[in-house]
Amino acid sequence: MELSLDGKVVLVTGGGAGLGRACVLAFVTAGAKVSVCDVSQEALDALATEVRELGGEIHTAVCDISNAEQVGSFFRATVDALGSLDVCLNNAGISAPLAPLGETSEADYDRVMSVNLKGTWLCMREALRIMTAAEGGNIINMASALSKKTYPGSCFYTTSKFAVAGMTRNTAVEYAAQGIRINAICPGNVLTPLLENTVSDEVKEHLAASHPMKRLGTPQEIANAAVFLASDASSFMTGALVSVDGGWTAM
Ligand SMILES: NC(=O)c1ccc[n+]([C@@H]2O[C@H](COP(=O)([O-])OP(=O)(O)OC[C@H]3O[C@@H](n4cnc5c(N)ncnc54)[C@H](O)[C@@H]3O)[C@@H](O)[C@H]2O)c1
Repeated sequence: MELSLDGKVVLVTGGGAGLGRACVLAFVTAGAKVSVCDVSQEALDALATEVRELGGEIHTAVCDISNAEQVGSFFRATVDALGSLDVCLNNAGISAPLAPLGETSEADYDRVMSVNLKGTWLCMREALRIMTAAEGGNIINMASALSKKTYPGSCFYTTSKFAVAGMTRNTAVEYAAQGIRINAICPGNVLTPLLENTVSDEVKEHLAASHPMKRLGTPQEIANAAVFLASDASSFMTGALVSVDGGWTAM
């Protein structure tokens, strides 16, 4: 099975921390050139040092994926800097504090939807413009186990991730005949800054215990799936919502 990404240009959003960072390092290890955006310049600088230490080539830009202008210039700069766009991993996403719907705020709704849903749409649109002209490409969206099941108190996050799953499947069908594959990864709970900042230690323990494998996932386990989907080894896959969740959604 060919898992090499040799010579491929892979773009990653929100690559400065957590799952995105692990995916960037895994893509570089598999031979890809990477273009990475984040809202944190500091995180991008640290990542660029790590990538160069691995012998990899990286382009970085500060870009908020909910801003159409910034997204447009990041994608154009990627092609200018690295020559093409073969794979686009739409990873950036945020959570909101857990609360039942009756206690949620309009500000949290707008914040979560503008990054998780609008931001993913904006990035898919830019990627598809480039990939349609190139007559091929590969898009991977970071959805969630909460694209398939629910968790009380996570209304906006869950709703946004169900929508990302819908957008993945709909767009995969629209572009399959044009040689563009579009899949999503649906991680279970993985210890990253996102989870650290959203839930208490008690909830973390509850989450770990609720996965049939009785533990949280690791960023590397999600990155392994991303490399597979980015590679030609997954050439007959499109429109798939790939669970990497220790059995959480099987329950
Ligand atoms: N950690 C989990 O358990 C888990 C589970 C399922 C799905 N996910 C999804 O995986 C993705 C990554 O999650 P994570 O846990 O690594 O999060 P994280 O908070 O640890 O890292 C996210 C990165 O994205 C960046 N970012 C945030 N908003 C951005 C924006 N508007 N534009 C550009 N960059 C932005 C952050 O600065 C950070 O570097 C998210 O889409 C998340 O919903 C995470």
